[in-house]
Amino acid sequence: MDKDVYRMNQEQYQKKHEVFKEERERVAKDPWRLRYHIMSDTGWLNDPNGLCHFHGIYHVYYQYSPFDVEGKIKLWGHMTSKDLCSWTQEEPLLFPDSPFDERGVYSGSAFLHDDQIYFYYTGNVKHFDKVDYDYIHAGREQNTILVTSKDGFHVSEKKLLMSNDAYPSDMSCHVRDPKIYEKDGMFYMMLGARDLHSKGCVLVYKSMDLTTWSYCNRLETPHPFGYMWECPDFFDLNGHQVLLTCPQGVKQSGYDYANVHQCGCFLVDGNIENEYTLKAFQQLDRGFDFYAPQTFLDEKGRRILIGWMGLPDIEYTNPTTKQGWQHALTIPRVLHVKDNRLIQRPIEELKNLRKKEQNGDVHLIAQKHLIERVYEMCIDIVAEGNFTLWLRNTTSLTYENQVLTLSLDEEGYGRGTRQVKLETLRNIQIFSDTSSLEIFVNDGEEVFTTRVYETIAKKEISFTDCKMDANVVFYNLDGYVL
Ligand code: FRU
Repeated sequence: MDKDVYRMNQEQYQKKHEVFKEERERVAKDPWRLRYHIMSDTGWLNDPNGLCHFHGIYHVYYQYSPFDVEGKIKLWGHMTSKDLCSWTQEEPLLFPDSPFDERGVYSGSAFLHDDQIYFYYTGNVKHFDKVDYDYIHAGREQNTILVTSKDGFHVSEKKLLMSNDAYPSDMSCHVRDPKIYEKDGMFYMMLGARDLHSKGCVLVYKSMDLTTWSYCNRLETPHPFGYMWECPDFFDLNGHQVLLTCPQGVKQSGYDYANVHQCGCFLVDGNIENEYTLKAFQQLDRGFDFYAPQTFLDEKGRRILIGWMGLPDIEYTNPTTKQGWQHALTIPRVLHVKDNRLIQRPIEELKNLRKKEQNGDVHLIAQKHLIERVYEMCIDIVAEGNFTLWLRNTTSLTYENQVLTLSLDEEGYGRGTRQVKLETLRNIQIFSDTSSLEIFVNDGEEVFTTRVYETIAKKEISFTDCKMDANVVFYNLDGYVL
């Protein structure tokens, strides 16, 4: 195995970036390019990283592999925005160019302190000196690394804070994705982990100075819930402590946990340093493409979440790989806890993308002959009843016997249906982009996030077998990508 395949410094990136001009132009012409979502210009993108709002600028970094559509080399790509509607691509922030992260600058987060950004991330290292490494129990280093920045564009030297020997002795080599939480002047670092018995958990470290960290506790369920918990996040919201994480290895149960890996949250009672209880796991999304979300507090005090609109280890081939790119991030969503439930609402700023408005009774909407694909649609239900709503040629949302079903058929490229059982259905808000759908149900109590690949838009957006009464408002949306 040639180790250098995974390394890349800034200079090498810049040279390769110059010669990739044609690829960028080709990708830009792909009709499946999204209009108002964050995507890589070429190649691969996964987890959002280092999210923050600093001196009036929103920074979104992300796992980025610009020259390879399968995501081998991991950099931190970078986008900025002042309004959360339009985004500017910046030069990547971090490169896998040190011995601590030569196999990838993996996921991590930002923490604002003393007018600086503290970025923590996992430096991935794999050893190739023996052939029998399984890379779970041996052969892998997971280094926790700190860099600081005064502007979000330039960083200090990489500082290695912790490596495998700093993690508890019953941990496998999978410990990663640091996220910081502050309470009463104490800093806590959450790390996703897999223990030697393949039980997923979150390790908690604490520090007084953001640099020296000592092990404090671990957050886990009494019974195993998956073998690895990736991308933890921990924050206070509406009087609750919330732990977000992505458990891997949880089996499907009815309509729940239908994707290969899961993503959800626990409300946490008690004290994370000693006695605590994780309450029931709440799935964050019901669609096919949602994983590794991260949150941050913006300068307006909102807890904002952005997720990866994709998943690792998926069993289908995303058709955009043929065009030289794959994956995107979700729209920003504001989080709340209401009645002990985490809810997600599209960020208000997206109202600025609204162009033409059309509205009417659900039974009259057919007369509008809507064939657009970049839109927002709000359905306010007056009297509940069954229906099918056609969103693309073969993609539909059906409500029947209190089960809401998203069905992609051909446009799913091998992905079929996702479902959720509801007690009532009060409203639906849909954000559609050229090749994505984000469907918020009952003011964001449930969400379906999905990529969808239609070839030619033939079918009108329409309701069939509609037994409900509802008012529909439809907005064409502007994009920032042309
Ligand atoms: C989640 C994840 C993280 C890791 C990163 C590597 O999708 O596996 O745990 O840090 O992706 O790209």
